[in-house]
Parts: sequence; structure tokens; C-alpha cells
Amino acid sequence: MAATSARRVFLEKGALVGGGLLLTGPAVARASGDANEVLRTLNSLRTIHGNFSEKEIPEAEVETVLQTSLRAANASNMQSYSIVVTRDRARMKELCGYAGSCLMVFCVDYNRSLASARSLGHSYSAEGTESFVTGAVNTVLCAQTAVIAAKALGIDSLLTNGIHRGDMERVWRILDLPEQACFPLIALVLGYPTSPPEYRKGRLDGAGVIHRERYHRITPQEAEEITRRYDDPREHLGLVDDWKAGGHAHYLDWFFKEWVGRRGPLPTGEAQMQRLLRRCGFVDSQK
Ligand SMILES: Cc1cc2nc3c(=O)[nH]c(=O)nc-3n(C[C@H](O)[C@H](O)[C@H](O)COP(=O)(O)O)c2cc1C
Repeated sequence: MAATSARRVFLEKGALVGGGLLLTGPAVARASGDANEVLRTLNSLRTIHGNFSEKEIPEAEVETVLQTSLRAANASNMQSYSIVVTRDRARMKELCGYAGSCLMVFCVDYNRSLASARSLGHSYSAEGTESFVTGAVNTVLCAQTAVIAAKALGIDSLLTNGIHRGDMERVWRILDLPEQACFPLIALVLGYPTSPPEYRKGRLDGAGVIHRERYHRITPQEAEEITRRYDDPREHLGLVDDWKAGGHAHYLDWFFKEWVGRRGPLPTGEAQMQRLLRRCGFVDSQK
């Protein structure tokens, strides 16, 4: 902790003295990621895995998070999403398997636009995969903006697709969602952790993640390097630290065999997902 703040002071001083221009290599990257309050907030984003403490978020802050989330870019400014908010922890658990002070379910939703078109006598359809892809982009940008707004207020978060586990019909039933043109895409649990995570998760940032000018297909050597990085406990890339206990040589062996493999050859719920997307009108019902 002391080392971190010492580094921050050093970097802030460096940026002040040299306008950041004298710093080179990784120091530049770190200085720019730490250079102002917005970047510090973004670089402090982290997931709370599990339930949150009993401490409640003031309603005014929930409202700020919601209003700020709406600032996200969205196609044609038609906001093809809606957000269902609940503060009932039992309902949260039932919906997504987790509970916190507040749950926001972000849905791809064209019902508002459909109603507008209807009220003006226009024919309008939100059917098809293009509508779904565009709506999904709008929806996740809104959700991630909520995550950032919350963090700026000192509120932690968990994005989860727990709403897609088990019988997904419950999400429509509990939230009374329209069957058509409305698909619950991602859930966001907000609150305060019972105990903060011991470390910030790492990220891959090299070959295969960021491509310059054109796509670079990773080489076998680069794939090995990725395996090595996941194995390195200092990188904090893995979901679990005790993957060796299962006798695996690499973290990614654990991931592909045990984590991915836990769902069987086809992801659980694939048929249900297809059926519900078809019912929504986002997947062609003829196919
Ligand atoms: C679509 C999606 C679904 C996720 N589902 C879960 C989940 O069900 N449970 C959980 O603990 N974390 C979930 N996460 C959080 C990720 O595990 C987490 O973002 C990742 O491990 C990186 O950790 P960090 O956010 O702390 O950096 C999900 C994240 C996304 C974007």
C-alpha cells in the first residue's frame, strides 16, 4: 500500500516536473493511467465476487448512477434498452444468484420505440439479429457506464450473467418483462464489499489482444507465453488460485477442462436461449 502511494506521488511529481514527457516505456503507461481522477477511477474498477455487505446505497446515489448510465452512446439516440431496478435482496438472489444493495437488470428493449411508432401510425419492426446486436451494444455500454459512475461514488459492482443460468423464464416472470422485443442481457449488482478483494485482477495486454494496423494471428510461441502468464501468480489473471490442486499443469488446463467443461459439450441453456431470442423476435423463427 505504502509502495503504491509512494509510486503515485513519484509519478504525479514526474508528470508535474516534466509534463510526463520525460517518462518513457512502462512508466509512461502507468503515469497516464494514474494521471487524473477519471483514469484513476477506471483503473480501480474491480468485481466483487459474491454477496455484498448489508450497507445500503442512498437512493440519491442510485439515481445518479442511473442518470449517468444514460449518457452512454447509443445508436440513433433511440436507447434500445431498459433498466429494471430492484432493491429487494431476495428477488436479486432469485434473479441472478447474488445480492447487494441494488440490482439493475439491463435489457435490450425495443418496446418503447415500437409503442412510439404505433402511436404515430408508423410501421416499425425491431425483429432480427441486426436489431439484437445493435441493442446489445447500446445496452452493455449503458451497463458499463453505470459501473463507472458507481465506482466514482465509491460503490462496488458485479456484472453477472447469472440471469441466464437455470430457468430464464423466471426473469420475465419476476420482472414482468414483455415477451417480445425485450431480452434481459446483463445484471449489475451494486453495493459495498464485506471485505475488499486482496488484489486487482490482471489483464492480458499483448499479442492477440491489441493489434496494430492489421490483425495478427498469434504464433505457437505467443500462445505458450499466454499460458505462462496465466500460470504466473503475480499476474492475477486466473479466476482461482488453487488450480494446481486438481493436478493440472497449467491454469488454462484447469480453465478448459474444469471451468468450461463443467457445462458439458454444449453450454447449458443454449436451446432455451435460442428459444427465448426467437420469442423476442431477435432470431428468425423460420430457421
Ligand atoms: C458477462 C459477464 C458475466 C460475469 N459473470 C460473473 C458471475 O456470474 N460471477 C462473478 O463472480 N463474476 C462475474 N463476472 C465478473 C468477471 O469474472 C470479472 O470481471 C473478471 O474476472 C475480471 O475481474 P475484475 O472485474 O475484478 O477485474 C462477469 C463479468 C461479465 C462481463
